[in-house]
Parts: sequence; C-alpha cells; structure tokens
Amino acid sequence: MPKIVILPGDGIGPEVTAAAVEVLREVAPDVTFEEHAIGGGAYDQYGDPLPPITRDALADADAVLLGTVGGAHNSPWNLLPRPLRPESGLLALRKLLGCYANLRPVRVQPGLEHLSPLKPELARGVDILIVRELLGGVYFDQDRKIEGDTAYNTMRYTTAEVERVAKVAFWAAEQRRGRVTSVDKANVLEVSELWRRDVTALRDRDYRNIHLNHEYVDSVAMLIVSDPSRYDVIVTENLFGDILSDLAAVIPGSLGLMPSASLGDGAGLFEPIHGSAPDIAGKGIANPAAAIMSAGMLLRHGLKRSDAANQIDRAVALALREHPTPDLGGKADTKTFTRAVLNAMGSPSVG
Ligand code: NAD
Ligand code: IPM
Ligand code: MN
Repeated sequence: MPKIVILPGDGIGPEVTAAAVEVLREVAPDVTFEEHAIGGGAYDQYGDPLPPITRDALADADAVLLGTVGGAHNSPWNLLPRPLRPESGLLALRKLLGCYANLRPVRVQPGLEHLSPLKPELARGVDILIVRELLGGVYFDQDRKIEGDTAYNTMRYTTAEVERVAKVAFWAAEQRRGRVTSVDKANVLEVSELWRRDVTALRDRDYRNIHLNHEYVDSVAMLIVSDPSRYDVIVTENLFGDILSDLAAVIPGSLGLMPSASLGDGAGLFEPIHGSAPDIAGKGIANPAAAIMSAGMLLRHGLKRSDAANQIDRAVALALREHPTPDLGGKADTKTFTRAVLNAMGSPSVG
C-alpha cells in the first residue's frame, strides 16, 4: 500500500489539502495517509518548521502532498531567525527529498477560456510546462549575508545542476511538442552564460530531436502573457521560475489553478504553487483546484497512475465550468467546489 505524507501547513493550506485528500481517497482507496506538521504551525508546536517527527515520516513515504506555508506580512514568524521561519521548513523539505526539478504546468482547458483575463483567442489551447530548477541559485547558496547597510546573496550554478534539470525539460518535451525554451539573463549574468552553454551542449549531445531556443527572462515576462502559445516547455533557474510561474497563473485565470510536481532523487513532492493566502484563510473560500490537481500530479508522477490522474483533471475542468470559486469570479466555496469535483468523478456527494 503506497504511503503518502500529508503536510497541510499554514493559512489556506489545511483547507485546500483536505479537499485534495478527499479526492485522493476516492480515486486511490488503497493509499494510506500520514499527516504531519510543517511551516509556522510546526514552529509553534515544535520550535522547528520541519521538525524531526515530520522528517522521520518522510523516510518511507512514496510521495508527499503539501499545502502551503507562511504567514501574513505582519506575522511574528517573519521576525524569527531565518532558519526558523515557515519558508525555511519548505526549502529544507525540498532539499531533504532531493527535488531539483519543479514541474509547473500552465493549461487552459477547452471551454475554460472565459476564466482567463486574456482575450479568448490568446488563452485558447495554452499548454506550457515550466520546469523550474528548485535546489540551487540564490535560494540555497550559503554565500549570503545581511550586515549593517549591506546585504548580498549569490546566484551560483554548476554544470551538474544545470544538466540534471535540463534533462527533465528535454524528457518532458519529448512527450509533448518537442520544443524547449531556456530562459536566462545571459546578456548580463555569468551564471546565465554557463546555464546557456550547458543546456545547448546537452541538447547537441543527447537531444538532437528537440528544438531548443534561448530567451531573456525580461522578454519572457512580456511574451508569456501576450503570446503564451509560443511556449511548449520552459526551463529556467530557481528565482526566475518562481516569478514567471506566478505571472503565468494569469493565463488560466488564478493562482488557484496552478499545481506542481517536484521530482528528483527520491519521493516526489506535490504542492500548489500559491501561498497561504492570509487574506482569505479561514473563510472557506479558497480555490482547492491547484491542490486537487497537485494530487493528480502525485498520482501521475509519484504513483504512476495516469488513469486516475486524468480522471481528476477531467473532473476539475467540469467543476470549474459549473462552480467557479470567487478568485475566478464565481460564488462556489471550497466545499461546494470539492463536492462538484467528486460528483463529476461519478461518486456520491461527500461532506
Ligand atoms: P499568496 O499566493 O498566498 O496570495 C496571493 C494572492 O492570491 C492573494 O490575494 C490570495 O488570496 C490569492 N490566492 C492564492 N491562492 C489562492 C487560492 N487557492 N484560492 C483563492 N485565492 C488564492 O501569496 P502571498 O500573499 O505573497 O504570500 C502569503 C504567504 O504565503 C507568505 O508567507 C509566503 O511566503 C507564503 N508562500 C508560500 C508558498 C508555498 O507554501 N509554496 C508559496 C508562495 C507564498
Ligand atoms: C513557491 C514559493 C516558495 C518559493 C517560498 C514560499 C519559499 O513562493 O513555492 O513558489 O519561493 O519557492
Ligand atoms: Mn512562488
């Protein structure tokens, strides 16, 4: 029996994760769940945003489903020493699991173009996969400091780090439309010069069937929302990928429609890309679609159950048509939307 570790986290995390677990129970009744603390709540309970009890549970997990971590801008958590803050728990989790490739699909399902603020002809048929490097760059480099009136972080990558994430992007493109856009800032940054050189060399060596092009991140920020259909797979470093994927959420219509899968050395980590949404936490109106679709990615990539994953994607699309949540201009609350997903899967109403 596969074991899934559930880490609901902070803010709307528990609300959207509960919805995803309900859906998982329906399509994968043989799976066992074990719930643990992470983030600000874990700090409050254990004095550690990724406590030993949570770490221990990961050892024999087949996959991990995460909600969100973090508090509002005025949260006392933000005054803690950086290693004790909620976000550090998440970064430590990614590191522990060795999840270096973060897959963030951006899709406009047929019939859901009206949820996008873009013109329907621009939104129609968009199907982009952002592959974000997740364990390197400014996020993790230890050459960092804040002291007096000076602070710095270091963006550093090695060829090995670039190659392993680029391989995932090329592999994904082989199953898709065969195109990879590598995004960098090679006109200014040495680290991008290395990135571009290594991605190109890997393509020339092992992936000659893939069409590779390079674009600058500032230009991509404009083109991804003005001409999204030009992209198939995008591969980029950690911070650029973080920013571009929130921007890309505009295309389907909400951050609440952006799931992700983080893959690497061991068990995969599956999480919506949005944060803890302190402005709506506890109101029961969060859009759980991203968390539910992340559960779908867990089935597809973590447990190799594509049929169940497809079933979830279809049901979410149907529910979005009939019962959009407030972030999409609709009225459905979290429970109503979740029930609509369960109903669309042909199961009786639960909860
Ligand atoms: P956010 O993603 O939490 O919220 C941005 C806006 O999008 C808010 O208006 C919010 O209400 C809305 N939103 C987000 N998800 C939604 C959903 N599922 N349904 C409806 N509306 C949704 O970003 P933020 O406000 O910048 O960050 C809040 C906290 O979350 C911070 O502490 C930040 O560090 C943390 N964060 C965590 C993660 C994560 O756990 N992976 C990701 C991003 C931010
Ligand atoms: C995300 C989040 C995280 C990141 C934060 C909360 C550490 O923004 O998952 O996109 O920057 O990776
Ligand atoms: Mn982010």
